[in-house]
Amino acid sequence: MLDFDFYNPTHIVFGQNRLSQLDTLIPSDAKVMVTFGGQSAKKFGTIDKVKDALKGRTVVEFGGIEPNPKFETLVKATELAKAEGVNFLLAVGGGSVMDGTKFIALANYEDADNYQNLLFHGFAPVPSTQALPLGCVATLPATGSEMNMAGVITFNAQKYPFMSPLVFPKFSFLDPELTLTLPKEQIANGVADAFVHVIEQYLTQPVNAKIQDRLAEGVLKTLIEDGPVTYQNNDDMEARKNFMWSATNALNGSIGSGVPQDWSTHMIGHEMTAVYGIAHGRTLAIILPHLLRERKDKKHAKLLQFAERVWDIQEGTEEEKIDQAIDKTEAFFNSLDIVTNITHYGIDDDGIDQIAANMEKMGLTALSETGDLTIDVVKKILVSAK
Ligand code: NZQ
Ligand code: ZN
Repeated sequence: MLDFDFYNPTHIVFGQNRLSQLDTLIPSDAKVMVTFGGQSAKKFGTIDKVKDALKGRTVVEFGGIEPNPKFETLVKATELAKAEGVNFLLAVGGGSVMDGTKFIALANYEDADNYQNLLFHGFAPVPSTQALPLGCVATLPATGSEMNMAGVITFNAQKYPFMSPLVFPKFSFLDPELTLTLPKEQIANGVADAFVHVIEQYLTQPVNAKIQDRLAEGVLKTLIEDGPVTYQNNDDMEARKNFMWSATNALNGSIGSGVPQDWSTHMIGHEMTAVYGIAHGRTLAIILPHLLRERKDKKHAKLLQFAERVWDIQEGTEEEKIDQAIDKTEAFFNSLDIVTNITHYGIDDDGIDQIAANMEKMGLTALSETGDLTIDVVKKILVSAK
C-alpha cells in the first residue's frame, strides 16, 4: 500500500424525510444562498421543502446552474452572493449544482479578474485559503460531489476540474426519495459514473491495499446488483438506497487512498461532453470497455482480480477470464440502455481528431496510472469504439 492522508469532514444525513433537520446544521445567524439547477428542484418541490425547513431565515436564491456548469453562470452567482453578503451556501441538485456551488464558495473570496485562475490547477489543490462554508441536498446519485473536495466547471467550451479541501461540504442530505423524479436515463448515467469512479481507482496496478480493494469490489458488486433494479423499478427503495450510498462511496476518497489512480476514461469522457454534449456518466460507459481492451496487458493482474472477485468468473485461462469480465462490463452498461459505440452518438473520424486535438491542447498527453497513455493511444481507443 502507498502512503496516504485521508481527510473527509462531511457529515452525511442519510434517509427519507430528514430535511426538517437542515436548520440545525446551519449556523443560526447565517445568511444562506440556496443554489439549484434548471427547474427540477423547483418543479418537484424540493426547494419548497428546503425553504420550509429554513423558515424564519433570510434566504437568497440562485437558480439556473446548468448541467456541466458554466463559468459565466457561476460568476453571476458569485456576484449575487457578494452583493447580498451571503455567508453559507446550500446546493440543492446533482453534481453540476454541487460543483458549481463549490466554485462560488471559493470565488467569493477572489477578485473578479482572478475567478478563472481557480480552474487552472488540475488535480492539485487550488491555492485559496478561504471559502464560504457549504452544505448539499443531493438529488442525483452519481458524482460523489456531496462528499468530496472536487468540482468540474466548463470554461471556454472545455471542462476544468478543481480541488480544494476548503469545499468539502459541511453536510450532505442523501434522501433517496428526492431521486424518484429522475428520468430513467439519469439513473443509468449515475450508475455508470459511480461504477467508473471505482474502476479508475481500483483497476490499476496491485499494491496489496486489501481494504481499498475489498471496499471497491463491494461498491462495484452493489452497483451491479442494485443499479439495474433502480433503473427498472422506481418502487424499490432498498435498491435505490444502496445505489445512492454506492455513488457516494465511489468517490469520497476512501477507496482511492494509498492506491495508484488512472482517470484516463474521465479525461477522454470530459472532451466528449465538451465537444458533443453527451452526459458525463454516459461518456464513461462508452469509453471504458474499449479502453480496458486496449490496456489489457498493462492492467493484467487487477483485471484478473476484477474478473474473479467482482464478476465471479472462475473458469478458463487468465486471458479468457479477463476478456469475459470486460464483455460483462460492457453488457452491464448496455443493460442500462447505454449504447457503447461512438458512431451512435455521431462521432466520426473528424470528431475523433477533434477530441484528440482538444486533449493535446489541455495537456492531457500522458494519462493513466503509468503515464504512458498518449494521444495516439487515445485515438486508438476511440477508433476501436466506432
Ligand atoms: O437542472 P435541473 O432541472 O435540476 O435538472 C437536472 C439536470 O438536467 C436533472 N436532475 C437532477 N436531480 C433531479 C433531476 N431531475 C429530476 N429529478 C431530480 N431529483 O438531472 C440533470 C443532470 O444533472 P447534473 O447535476 O448535471 O448531473 P450529475 O449529477 O451527473 O453531474 C454531472 C456533473 O458533475 C461533474 C461532471 O463533469 C458534470 O459536470 N463531475 C463531478 C465530479 C466531482 N465533483 O467529484 C466527478 C465526476 O466525475 C464528474 O466529472
Ligand atoms: Zn465521473
